[in-house]
Amino acid sequence: CRILVLISGSGSNLQAIIDSCDDHLHGEVVGVISNKPDAYGLIRAHNHEIDTSCVIARKGEERNEYDARLKVAIDRYQPDLIVLAGFMRILTPELVNAYLGKMVNIHPSLLPKYPGLDTHQRAIDAGDNEHGASVHFVIPELDAGPIALQAKVPVYREDTAEDLAQRVHQQEHAIYPMVVKWICQKRLIMKNGQCYLDGE
Ligand code: GRF
Repeated sequence: CRILVLISGSGSNLQAIIDSCDDHLHGEVVGVISNKPDAYGLIRAHNHEIDTSCVIARKGEERNEYDARLKVAIDRYQPDLIVLAGFMRILTPELVNAYLGKMVNIHPSLLPKYPGLDTHQRAIDAGDNEHGASVHFVIPELDAGPIALQAKVPVYREDTAEDLAQRVHQQEHAIYPMVVKWICQKRLIMKNGQCYLDGE
């Protein structure tokens, strides 16, 4: 399974996926694309001799122009699976539809709660006593695709958004590689807008 990872920042989820592919049994990270030239995840990729590309938005560039360039960069790697791991751009429906069922994202909340940004602070402000992360297939609607796997964490009364982010991040590193592996093994698929694990 040829895995392509899209990032914008630290790439700790990228790292967890690279580590889980160490034996190359189910898949290999064949490339990393970033929209930020200084993303630390690019260094992680270089450390593992993984090819990288940067697709940087031009001044005044339309979203569909950017996505057309991104698509060219993606297709160069001929990926079986595209993994959004902290890629901080909203994708056009055209781009998403080109890879339906082949693109996953991780979102730091228990979706459908808190799509979008600032999820940790929003969970604290709402007085939630649990929070977490969700891995989902990507559909045109933001953070709304079928959920493959979620991990929950407790929210403590004294938590700051930082504390909570850290707790959630740790869980992300456990669940994202797991989902990637299931998809590579063809145990998990998206069909008719739903997730199926092992034919269930
Ligand atoms: C994660 O919190 C993920 O849920 C969100 O962006 C962050 C990426 O972190 N989509 P990292 O770059 O993998 O460390």
